[in-house]
Amino acid sequence: MLPFTTARLLGHPACDDDFASLRILHEDPRVMATLAPDGRPRDAQFTRAMLARMRSHWERHDFGVWMLTRAEDGIFTGYAGLQHLQIDGETEIEVMYAIRADLWRRGYASEAAAASLSYGFATLGAASLVAITLVNNHGSRAVMEHCAMRYERDIEHAELPHVLYRITAAEFGGANVGGHA
Ligand SMILES: CC(C)(COP(=O)(O)OP(=O)(O)OC[C@H]1O[C@@H](n2cnc3c(N)ncnc32)[C@H](O)[C@@H]1OP(=O)(O)O)[C@@H](O)C(=O)NCCC(=O)NCCS
Repeated sequence: MLPFTTARLLGHPACDDDFASLRILHEDPRVMATLAPDGRPRDAQFTRAMLARMRSHWERHDFGVWMLTRAEDGIFTGYAGLQHLQIDGETEIEVMYAIRADLWRRGYASEAAAASLSYGFATLGAASLVAITLVNNHGSRAVMEHCAMRYERDIEHAELPHVLYRITAAEFGGANVGGHA
């Protein structure tokens, strides 16, 4: 497993010690509005279960979601990374990300998503990578477009309408995907 770093962020594989950090996201209605199926904050049990899933994904596949801290001051910033996702019977690898609300719109999600894609292609050797989001999650769609991902189709996920974006290794190699300017 290679270290995960971007220009401004450091990542480590999600583990149980990240509970307090992840609560910052799960307790915040601004973050959960587009992350939870019902758009509401989640309790501690949900956070523990999510960390257990993330840890298990790392153990089984040797890749997964990184918890992010800001290099300049070490504060928890959010998470980003890669995980397996079943879509219409196919196993894909999705890039996923969430940033704490007081640090939105500073380019952190785009920077972390671009680095995750780079890891997926360069280290995992993926042929293509996907991202999904709720149709009206304009911030997340903007992050995907910043990373040169292209809209592929509408899908249903968790019984809600989502959009599926994709990028191939060749497209990523040819695109100028750098995250934060
Ligand atoms: C979506 C999210 C990850 C964006 O994080 P971020 O660090 O603010 O994103 P960036 O700063 O990299 O912004 C990328 C682009 O999205 C735009 N953007 C960010 N939030 C936006 C919003 N709410 N509406 C419209 N555009 C938005 C930014 O302006 C930027 O575009 P620009 O450079 O052309 O101005 C963040 O809002 C978040 O964590 N939301 C809650 C969790 C979530 O929805 N995660 C994604 C699940 S699929």
